[in-house]
This record gives sequence, C-alpha cells and structure tokens, in this order.
Amino acid sequence: MKIVLLGAPGAGKGTQAQKLVADYGVAHISTGDLLRAAVKAQSKLGIEAKGYMDAGKLVPDQLVIDLVKERLAQDDAQKGFILDGFPRNTAQAEVLDKELSGMGIALDAALLVDVKADVIINRLSSRRTCRSCGYTAGAGVDVCPRCGGEMYQRDDDKPETIKKRLDTYESQTAPLVGYYREHGILKEVDGDRPVDEVYADVKALLGL
Ligand code: AP5
Ligand code: ZN
Repeated sequence: MKIVLLGAPGAGKGTQAQKLVADYGVAHISTGDLLRAAVKAQSKLGIEAKGYMDAGKLVPDQLVIDLVKERLAQDDAQKGFILDGFPRNTAQAEVLDKELSGMGIALDAALLVDVKADVIINRLSSRRTCRSCGYTAGAGVDVCPRCGGEMYQRDDDKPETIKKRLDTYESQTAPLVGYYREHGILKEVDGDRPVDEVYADVKALLGL
C-alpha cells in the first residue's frame, strides 16, 4: 500500500490513516505530526515552522520535503506507507513523483476524503489530540486510548485559524485533486458519515 490522503483540514485523513496502520501495519507519514514533534522538541525546524502553523499557512516547501524524504527512507516505510498531509501543493506533488520514481516505486492511489467546510469547523473545534503520539479523537476524551498520554487542543484548532487553514487548503491544496485525477490514480470517498462507514468504503476503494 503506497497512498496519499487528500482532504481539507479535519476531513478525517488522520482518523482513516490510524485505522489503516492498525490493520495493515504500514507507515503513517503525517507531515503535521512530524512538524508538531519538531515544535515540541524546539528544534531549529520546529521554531521556524511554528509561526506558519499558528497562522494557518503552509510551512515552506523545502523544510517539509526534507522531512518526508528522510521518513520515506526509514525501514518501516519500505513495505508501504500512507502520506497524510503531504503533498500540499503542486510543487510538493512533483517532488514526490520524482523522489518515488528514483526509488523505483509508484503511488497506488491518491484518496480524497471529501467533507464540506461547515462540518469541518465543528469537528476541528471539538478535536482533541494526544501530546505524546498524535492520536486524535473528539471532545470529552482526556486520556489517549492508544498510549495513555494527555489529550489537548491543538493551537491551530481555534476558530480564526481553522478559517485560515480552510482558505489555504482551497487555494493551494485543492488543485491536487485535478493533478491526481489527470494521473489516473484519484479515488474519492464521502467523509461526512460515521468513521466506520467511511473506512469500509476506503478499504473497498483500495481493494483491501
Ligand atoms: P496537519 O496536521 O496536516 O493538519 P490538517 O491537514 O489541517 O489536517 P488535520 O490533522 O487537521 O485533519 P485530518 O483530516 O487529519 O482530520 P482528523 O482525522 O484529525 O497540518 C497542520 C499544519 O502543519 C498545516 O496547517 C501547515 O502549517 C503544516 N503542514 C503540514 N503538512 C504540510 C505540508 N505538506 N506542507 C506545508 N505545511 C504543512 O479528524 C478531525 C476531527 O474529526 C477529529 O476530532 C476526529 O475524531 C473527527 N472525525 C474524523 N472522522 C470523522 C467522521 N467520519 N465523523 C465524525 N467525526 C470524525
Ligand atoms: Zn497517545
């Protein structure tokens, strides 16, 4: 399984990725999680990235591309991976195509999790995320069901930042839907249904 997950912030990319990883043992490569880990560690990259993230803007391409290249080279990514949150614009998609073809592999699918903006605003304002492992759930979950870590509200899950992230998605990331359609690997799922119904369709679309 070598796939890209596309979709607006809060569409449920991370939620579906968590299920695929649990069932099929592939690597979950979430650029959002990698960047949040860098922010937490206060590395040079993290300090630079935080301002962009808090403003709902994309972090500069080269910073994210280096992170993804490093992660794709790790052992656990060799048997399969889910790219969640990358690529996020056409320049990143082109770099990814080049990198993968250099590794002699091709994407199986780009899966769009489709959800309308009003549903997203509700979901993100009530989302809680694990400080230790990045697991996500709705409001009311205070302890991570996966690792026991503390669940908190992400800095960018505030209403004004959510709106900016949606604008960034529309202007920079949504064009990737057409990009992958032209490449003949786009698949689409209606993400505005219960998690397990969406997941059943995801598996069917991926032939699992
Ligand atoms: P990132 O972490 O990638 O955020 P995002 O794309 O905005 O995605 P989210 O994590 O918000 O949403 P999701 O689709 O994974 O939804 P989830 O499953 O959690 O990026 C954050 C920032 O990092 C960016 O703004 C940018 O600054 C930077 N960045 C990251 N990648 C970058 C890149 N490639 N280039 C440049 N910058 C980059 O679900 C949301 C909520 O809904 C949860 O509470 C969940 O429990 C609930 N939910 C999920 N599915 C359902 C359902 N079917 N029904 C009801 N509730 C549901
Ligand atoms: Zn956790």
